[in-house]
Amino acid sequence: MIGRLNHVAIAVQDLASATALYRDTLGATVSAPLPQPAHGVTVVFIELPNTKIELLEPLGAGSPIAKFLERNPDGGMHHICYEVDDILAARERLKAGGARVLGDGEPRVGAHGKPVLFLHPKDFNGTLIELEQV
Ligand code: CO
Repeated sequence: MIGRLNHVAIAVQDLASATALYRDTLGATVSAPLPQPAHGVTVVFIELPNTKIELLEPLGAGSPIAKFLERNPDGGMHHICYEVDDILAARERLKAGGARVLGDGEPRVGAHGKPVLFLHPKDFNGTLIELEQV
């Protein structure tokens, strides 16, 4: 059911220094910071040959990653995103298997303008999983 790894998201306290690390030390191609107020984050996209890394910095009050950074002050891997062809079919299959879909269970438009769902980390080896319909 799941397809390609679309991205790995890393929460960071300081987007500028994290971006510099990837650009200057690791030699990656990085985007300009992209504020996404609807998602409470500012994102930098890092293009790798086989996938993307997204650096997430909290934006505004009540950012969904603020609590994560309180628990992980050095930053850390926040979620991984797998591609699916049909997000509603994927959701039904997962629910039938006992997995919990976060929020109200309805897909919403994610950072790439495509429908996404998040799955409870306790059901997936402690990893928050995002599914994105591509
Ligand atoms: Co994501």
